[in-house]
Formats: sequence, structure tokens, C-alpha cells
Amino acid sequence: MTERLARIAGVGAWLPDRILTNDELSRMVDTSDSWIRERTGIRQRHIAPEGVTTADLAEQAARRALDDAGIAPEAVDLIVVATTTPDFTFPSVGTMLQARLGATKGAAFDVQAVCTGFVYALSVADNMIARGQAGTALVVGAETMSRILDWTDRSTCVLFGDGAGAMVLTADQSSDNSDEARTGILGTYLRSDGRFKDLLHVDGGPSSTGTVGHLRMIGNQVFRHAITNIAESMTTIADRAGVAIADIDWFVPHQANQRILEGVAKRLSIPTEKVISTVADHGNTSAASVPLAFDRAVQDGRIKRGDLVLMEALGGGFTWGAALARF
Ligand code: ACO
Repeated sequence: MTERLARIAGVGAWLPDRILTNDELSRMVDTSDSWIRERTGIRQRHIAPEGVTTADLAEQAARRALDDAGIAPEAVDLIVVATTTPDFTFPSVGTMLQARLGATKGAAFDVQAVCTGFVYALSVADNMIARGQAGTALVVGAETMSRILDWTDRSTCVLFGDGAGAMVLTADQSSDNSDEARTGILGTYLRSDGRFKDLLHVDGGPSSTGTVGHLRMIGNQVFRHAITNIAESMTTIADRAGVAIADIDWFVPHQANQRILEGVAKRLSIPTEKVISTVADHGNTSAASVPLAFDRAVQDGRIKRGDLVLMEALGGGFTWGAALARF
């Protein structure tokens, strides 16, 4: 039987030029470079200047991914943008991006699962490709988290940054179902548990307060759930695909905190050299962090064609999940 797999044809990323250092933050709130580094691993984050929006970042990352794939925007028949910081309540960043790229076929929309957004978006696109509803998909994670931070709250404003990452998926109809021939998204696993909504949320929105609101987080409680849930999603997806964690070449986690990355790696006996970490340079870019990290590891030659890669994330909601791919 032939299987329609979503092959990762290209990747791209974009970060605004402006870098905000820990020392600069320590002049804005009662914090220090050493506290931020020790508790999170973050050294700096990129911040979109006034007037630069999520759609702008998404467009730059998308164009790079399309160039990398050698695919013209007109060929794209599905755009899924993962974001929790859209330019407007509507239209979606997805349809804005569609118009900017000159793509007119198929459908474009946003997915909102906060930091797990990219894994959710990838899952939606993968399933639509598998069902024959799309042939060439652009999956983007893009955020301007700086716009929903309370810059007087030291417990959250030091953690986040802005950026975007993108992947192009193309349908690959293969009659060879051997493990080596199966290149592309091999599986996705999505979870959520709305009972934990208050631990990580934004205190505003169009139908409640009529304001954009600010991000609120009880960080130490989120931290405890993060390691357990992320490890569970990783073992589940590996089991379902019939691969051992030890056989996976690279782990591309959501970049919330270096201690979470190390805690998960320790729990699953993963060598830290296999874990792609960009949190020091980017901070937590929410839905953008997984494709940003993926792109960096492809650009610097770590992730190569044929490698088995596991992506994972946990975010507000709570939402969490994982995706396994042969690049
Ligand atoms: N500088 C100095 N001190 C600080 C700062 C700061 N920036 N922020 C908090 N503190 C203080 C606190 O006030 C507290 O002081 P107290 O003991 O006097 O009350 C102390 O540091 C310890 O605070 P904790 O919150 O217990 O610190 P913790 O070690 O847990 O680190 C952190 C906080 C970094 C937020 C961590 O808990 C974390 O990373 N949590 C998980 C975040 C996450 O994974 N989020 C999910 C994705 S995000 C999304 O979906 C949008």
C-alpha cells in the first residue's frame, strides 16, 4: 500500500536585529545577569522593534524556508501559522502571510496552542497532507511575545523573546514502506489539560476584558509539570513509531529553560550533545522556538538529511506534544 508522507523540504528562520541583554534587563527590573543565567540559561533575547509585527517575522522565516526548499510561493496550498501574538484578532496571520507571499491556492489559518503551537501546527499540516487535502504546506511558528509581557514583572519579562521559524512540507507518495525509505513526519502526538489554565495564561482578550492583557505564570509549578509531561510525550511518540529513544539522532525541544532541557534529557538518559539548545541566545520564543532551533541545527550542519529528529513542547493551556521526523 502506498503511504503519503509529509517530507520536510526546507526550513527557515528569522530574528529581529535588536538584542536585549540580561544586563539591560537588570536596569529595568530587580534582577541580575547571574540570576537569569543560573535559573534559565538565558543570556539574551531578540525583540521586535516598534512597528515590526508577528506577520513581518513570519514572512521573513517563510521566505527563507521556501528558498531552502526551492519551492515557489504559488505552489503552496496550505499555510498553518502557530502564534499566540497575532497582529490582529482577525484576519489570521496565516491569511496575511498567504497574501504577502502571493499564494492563492488552498487554505491558510492560525493555530493557537501557545508554546506547543508549532507541534500542533505540524500535526495539522501532516494530517491534511496524509489525507490528500494539501500537497505543499508552509508551517510557521511566529511570535512577538514582547508585546504581551508585563515589563515590570521580573518573574516573566526576563524569560521571553521574539522570532519566527518555518518549515515547508511536501507530499511524498512512496510505495516503499521500509524504515530507511520513510522520510518525513513519522508521527505526531498532541495533548492538553485545561484544568491547569491558571498556571500560565494571559489576563486579557477581546471577549473578556477587551484588552490584549499580559502573560502571567506561576513558573515553579509549570516547571514541575513540564519535565513529566514532556518526557511522557517523548516516550509515547517513540513507542508508537517503534523506535528507541537511544536511536533518535537529535532532540529539538521547545526552549523554555535550560534546566528543563537538562531535566528531561537526564530522565530519559539522553546525552546532552544530542539536545539542540538555543535558549541562551533566543530566550523563550513560544511557538517559534522549535523551528528556530531546528533551523539553527540544520544551518550549522548538525541535523543532516536522513537523521531521526524528535521535536517536543509544553505550553499554556496546558498543551504539550511531540513530533517525530526523518529529515
Ligand atoms: N530575578 C531575580 N529573582 C527572581 C526573578 C528574576 N528575574 N524572578 C523570580 N525571582 C525570585 C522570585 O521572586 C523568588 O523569590 P522568593 O524566594 O523571595 O519568593 C525566587 O526568585 C524563586 O522563584 P521561583 O519562581 O521559585 O524560581 P524558579 O527556580 O522556579 O525559576 C522560572 C523560575 C525560570 C520561571 C522557572 O520556574 C521556569 O522556567 N518555569 C517553567 C517555564 C515554562 O516552561 N513555561 C512553559 C512554556 S511558556 C508558554 O507556554 C508561554
